[in-house]
Amino acid sequence: MPDRRPLIGGNWKMNTTRESAEALATAVVKGLAADVAETCDVALFPPFPYLQVVRQCVGSAPVQVGGQDVSGHEEGAFTGQTSARMLLDLGCTMTLVGHSERRHGLNESDEVLNRKVRMALASGLDVMLCVGETLEEREAGHSEQVVAKQVSAGLEGVTKADLERLSIAYEPVWAIGTGRTAAPEDAQSMHARIRADLENQYDARSATSVRIVYGGSVKPANADSILAQPDVDGGLIGGASLDAGGFLDIVRAAASVEAS
Ligand code: PGA
Repeated sequence: MPDRRPLIGGNWKMNTTRESAEALATAVVKGLAADVAETCDVALFPPFPYLQVVRQCVGSAPVQVGGQDVSGHEEGAFTGQTSARMLLDLGCTMTLVGHSERRHGLNESDEVLNRKVRMALASGLDVMLCVGETLEEREAGHSEQVVAKQVSAGLEGVTKADLERLSIAYEPVWAIGTGRTAAPEDAQSMHARIRADLENQYDARSATSVRIVYGGSVKPANADSILAQPDVDGGLIGGASLDAGGFLDIVRAAASVEAS
């Protein structure tokens, strides 16, 4: 992986309680060996109400805490939304944008997501922009165009300098929470395509630096083969991140690919 540290994110979605969130974060922090943390970046994305308690559990450990979503607006009359400034205020350093459960589940458009990306980056948060095609789009042979459009529209107006704080999660919608995973070669080919598109939109240096992680039913049993792909720079883990032991196995798998 040329100069790209792997990144493993745990997307807890709308799971956990205050108590179990605290226990899960504590177990991740305790189980994260120093040599692994030196090689691999780790981020946790708990539900908003538990960000503060998770942030406290993490303390000074090398684990980033991030929001599962962020508002595209700075502040004001936006009931139910959470601003980038609020996330920063709680000690978050990152946010997901455009997870399929928002993009497809809540019909968030490329325009809305681009606004979120720009607001988060301008505020100082790192961003993980999630992209991915639906099963119908894949079966129609449109996966590459769909993902290319999500990337280019999502990054509209993002400067080369800001791109350094952005990663992309390729998550085929049909693989999320379904137990189906993209074949490692299919993931690799989409990641390579995204990187080629980034080169066109920016330049070769920027495209080589951006981390592109894979998401969709990654588990300890399939992590090695996916993470071994040259353009797969880590993973965004949903279901398997709710078990600290399994999540840490995936982190170790990413660190060992990097070290090999
Ligand atoms: P999954 O979710 O690992 O449960 O498929 C991944 C995600 O939605 O980020």
